[in-house]
Amino acid sequence: MRDTIRIALTKGRLEKKTLARMKAAGYDISELESPSRKLIFRLPNTNIEVVLAKAADVITYVEHGVCDLGVVGKDTIMEKGGSFYEMVDLGFGKCRFALATKKGKTIYGNYRTPVIATKYPEVTRAFFSRKNMDVETIKIEGSVELAPLLELADAIVDIVETGSTLKENGLEVIEDVAPISARVIVNLASAKMNKTAIQRIISDLERGGEEQ
Ligand code: PRP
Repeated sequence: MRDTIRIALTKGRLEKKTLARMKAAGYDISELESPSRKLIFRLPNTNIEVVLAKAADVITYVEHGVCDLGVVGKDTIMEKGGSFYEMVDLGFGKCRFALATKKGKTIYGNYRTPVIATKYPEVTRAFFSRKNMDVETIKIEGSVELAPLLELADAIVDIVETGSTLKENGLEVIEDVAPISARVIVNLASAKMNKTAIQRIISDLERGGEEQ
């Protein structure tokens, strides 16, 4: 058994905010603050290791138990799913999934099956199946906003934060799909075996919240 508690952080925007919370809670994160290509960091004077990973991989590492807990967006949780406990909403990384299309267009009331472009096919399927609506989903890897502009798709399901990407490309939200924010996930076995240590880290992550 490992003698460390490993926490997987989603690299990028969530990483910065998670580290700010850890710092506010008193953890020495100075090594993580200096730019490097390092991926695993032992926090001084603790038995905690921080692992930097891509969002979907945070789930994979936590599911398999090689990391005890992770911080990941609800968007990735909704798309990938998996077996883990989703413990708390950290309240940052707030944005939403939305259905959007060209200004003034609609996808409802047409005779043919609407085509929806998205980086999130599972979220899209679940959303339209709740509506009992048939759609064709096309998976896009990059800027999904291009798909309706190039007339590949009637609409997109994508992440909207400030709304400026939609606006600058002449698109608008038809309907909100789901709210998104950063969540703490915990491995099923670790939640029992390392209960106290994990709860401590979670409350530290929550506690740093007021300053932001
Ligand atoms: C996301 C999303 C939108 C944009 C929305 O992409 O896919 O394109 O952010 O943000 P806004 O409402 O503030 O304009 P992101 O920047 O994460 O890059 P990605 O395409 O690499 O996912």
